[in-house]
Amino acid sequence: MRSSTSEQVLAKDHLLPHYTKGVAWKASNHTVIDRGEGCYVWDTDGNKYLDGLAGLFCTNMGHGRADFAAAAMKQMEKLAYFPTWGYSNPPAIEAAKLIAEHAPGDLDQVFFVNSGSEAVESALKFARNYHVSQGDTARYKVISREWSYHGTTLGALAVTGVPKFKKDFAPMMWDGARHVMNTHNDEIPAGGTAADLASVQAIEAQILAEGPETVSLVIAEPVQNGRGALVPPDGYWQELRRICDKYGVLLCADEVINAFGRLGHFTGSERFGVVPDMITFAKGVTSAYQPLGGVMIRKPLVEAIWDSKAGFFNHGSTFGGHPVATAVAVANMKAMKEEKVFENVLSNEDYFKNGLNQIMANHSCLGDVRGTGYFYAVEFWKDGPNRVPLSDDEAAALQSGVLSGFVRDAKVMIRPDDRGATMLVLSPPLVADRKVLDDLLSRVDQIVERVGDWLEGNR
Ligand SMILES: Cc1ncc(COP(=O)(O)O)c(C=O)c1O
Repeated sequence: MRSSTSEQVLAKDHLLPHYTKGVAWKASNHTVIDRGEGCYVWDTDGNKYLDGLAGLFCTNMGHGRADFAAAAMKQMEKLAYFPTWGYSNPPAIEAAKLIAEHAPGDLDQVFFVNSGSEAVESALKFARNYHVSQGDTARYKVISREWSYHGTTLGALAVTGVPKFKKDFAPMMWDGARHVMNTHNDEIPAGGTAADLASVQAIEAQILAEGPETVSLVIAEPVQNGRGALVPPDGYWQELRRICDKYGVLLCADEVINAFGRLGHFTGSERFGVVPDMITFAKGVTSAYQPLGGVMIRKPLVEAIWDSKAGFFNHGSTFGGHPVATAVAVANMKAMKEEKVFENVLSNEDYFKNGLNQIMANHSCLGDVRGTGYFYAVEFWKDGPNRVPLSDDEAAALQSGVLSGFVRDAKVMIRPDDRGATMLVLSPPLVADRKVLDDLLSRVDQIVERVGDWLEGNR
């Protein structure tokens, strides 16, 4: 076991980590990441790791881009900050224009914030504000899906469907959040249509049970991360659109992960051919070179609020539309286009998925590979081909250190995930070519092999 570096000691002394157990933080193998280049990062001991999660689904253009740093510096020298309360600034305007140009349908209004949670809070509040402005004052409930993750702030947490993140905070959350089944394992019955999907009918049934006049918003990710890269059945999003229109409920696609190329398109909504009322985004909008989030909103909804008695969206924050963050967003979006990264994802997604399917074919401890674009989950079973699930003890042991140990040993950043199953989640930078994908697949193969051996030893 190596000795702790001075950075590791200082981190333990002063830096409070996010969602990290104390025992893991205090362990001597805590990793201090020091620098990055392309799809790889290095720790302070000089060890090299493959970043198979794009940081946290966000370093879409990879690490170490001097051009993004230059864009930030140029803007800092010119105007580091000014609020977007009543004023605007050129980079915020240009970033909004670029986003609006690529957003589906008439979603051409962009409200900037600083993170995905704030984007979701803003969407929840915009929906409520819109309904109130139209005299529809009873609408405040929000429907989302089981195992969905929408963020940590109290509104976003209320619509999140992951019990372990919420339970301690339940008394602090508003009573309007409802959760319905997600699309996991849901299939269109033979001879039926998407309207026959149980996951579609659950949404309509919930709206009716609540009383449509009390429902404000349906929020869902095009491909849901929680429960492992759930790709919706064909027609699912068209049905959500139809149901929301029928009952006067707004529809928000939470694309904090999906947008900016993760699925090979500017938005996941484009990939599934739907025009929601709002799209929340963050992460990839700057490839994480600056914190930035936001909401794309249909113009008629914004106009309706402008024209109402209230006359404004009653929400804001100091750093929304920050000139440096939006200047980096502009540089990032231009680079995505010039370097054809969406095309890179689309031309490699089948290769990537086939590689994962091959790993599953070689190892009976995998029972499912899900996902699309550069966004996948592989799910562990005791015996995948014979549909024998992990025992509770096996799942608990894998989830509480065994799997993360194997991942750490493989020097790859991918996420061991315990939300509803035992899984690994993969989401490499969008600039990853086949050489990087081969490297990623070989490390995943190594981890899966070790899980298989470990399960054998435990039988
Ligand atoms: C779909 C979705 N919404 C919201 C969030 C919250 O974003 P943030 O962590 O930037 O607050 C996340 C974070 O991963 C997310 O995946």
